[in-house]
Amino acid sequence: MKIDTLLAHAGRDPLRFGGLVNPPVSRASTILHPSMASFRRAQADKHGQPYYGRFGTASHRMLEEACIALDGGCGAVLFPSGLAACAGALSAVTAPGAHLLVVDSVYGPVREFCEVDLVSRGVEVEFFEPTIGAAIAGRLKPSTCAVYCESPGSLTFEIQDLPAICEAVHRHDVAVLVDNTWATPLFCRPLALGADIAIQAATKYLVGHSDAMLGVAVANERRLGALRATAARQGTSVGADDCALALRGLRTLGVRMRQHQASALTVAQWLAGRPEVRRVDYPALPQDPGYARWKRDFSGASGLFGFELHPVPEAAVDAFIDGLALFGIGVSWGGFESLVLPSHPKRSLAPAGHGPLLRLHIGLEDPQDLVDDLSQGLERFVRPHHGAYA
Ligand SMILES: Cc1ncc(COP(=O)(O)O)c(C=O)c1O
Repeated sequence: MKIDTLLAHAGRDPLRFGGLVNPPVSRASTILHPSMASFRRAQADKHGQPYYGRFGTASHRMLEEACIALDGGCGAVLFPSGLAACAGALSAVTAPGAHLLVVDSVYGPVREFCEVDLVSRGVEVEFFEPTIGAAIAGRLKPSTCAVYCESPGSLTFEIQDLPAICEAVHRHDVAVLVDNTWATPLFCRPLALGADIAIQAATKYLVGHSDAMLGVAVANERRLGALRATAARQGTSVGADDCALALRGLRTLGVRMRQHQASALTVAQWLAGRPEVRRVDYPALPQDPGYARWKRDFSGASGLFGFELHPVPEAAVDAFIDGLALFGIGVSWGGFESLVLPSHPKRSLAPAGHGPLLRLHIGLEDPQDLVDDLSQGLERFVRPHHGAYA
């Protein structure tokens, strides 16, 4: 089945649910069993049969099934947020005394989890350059347990050479984790590129409507046991209503992502031609340093990208953002609406540019309206400073 067909059919089973097109929302804490034999069977198979609400109900199983089908994994674990999925997957593959390699362009709160929680657990955390590729082999130690990737990187959008990294480290017993939130399984399948665990902040594109928090990690056979067991020990649990929202979002993921891509490309190309803009960080632009790797490993690009302005005072950037009519000011992304925020990437290795850096999420509005809005903002608030600071 092609992925668009999977999006329409995976994770639902009308015959099982009395003909309902969508699985009903199954909320539960206690689940009753008709006999001790049945109770014991469920207890032995908590992730398969209904046992106790914390381990999920049919709502969770259907979403897990869909995620497994999309990512091509062996099993899926749901988390109450994207960050919880990142932290949960990292907890599953690390142990005191182990060495963990983390891409320097990692999402900020994941960096913090590594630097605070994992370090206090006795994990040695080391950051590596996003473009390292096969040279990651030179960073391995006998104690290296995992490599954590995010491609493209948060705020700076570097594309990593995932196949080269996976090949280099899999000669050793080292797990590769990939935060694939930007591309979604529609545009990149990390497990097919050699990764062990693919992580999604489903809060973004999977849910797609900015109304639920959710994370999912899909693992291959080798890593599924530890991922599941760790999440279970930590009491990880997700509400059935949020699963239903994610399943609903998933049905339109294909059409939404193609529109995000087309509109983001229009806006990114337009921004790249503006005199106030020093650089646009969007891997789908041919001039982007990651373009060739993106073209090779991804089948599309989403609606999130960054750009750097020539230096202007912070007040001018704030006025530009405040003056936009169609771009909301707020964290997260992946919904149907356009968003803007200044970004301040934290890096341990190379600094990320000089001028003010901004991040745009291009939603499902008409791209010409978005271009007009940005154009007016640049003319009014940024252009007056341009000569003085460029
Ligand atoms: C790349 C990436 N991963 C993970 C997360 C965390 O997701 P959540 O906000 O659902 O915790 C985010 C949130 O912005 C993100 O951008």
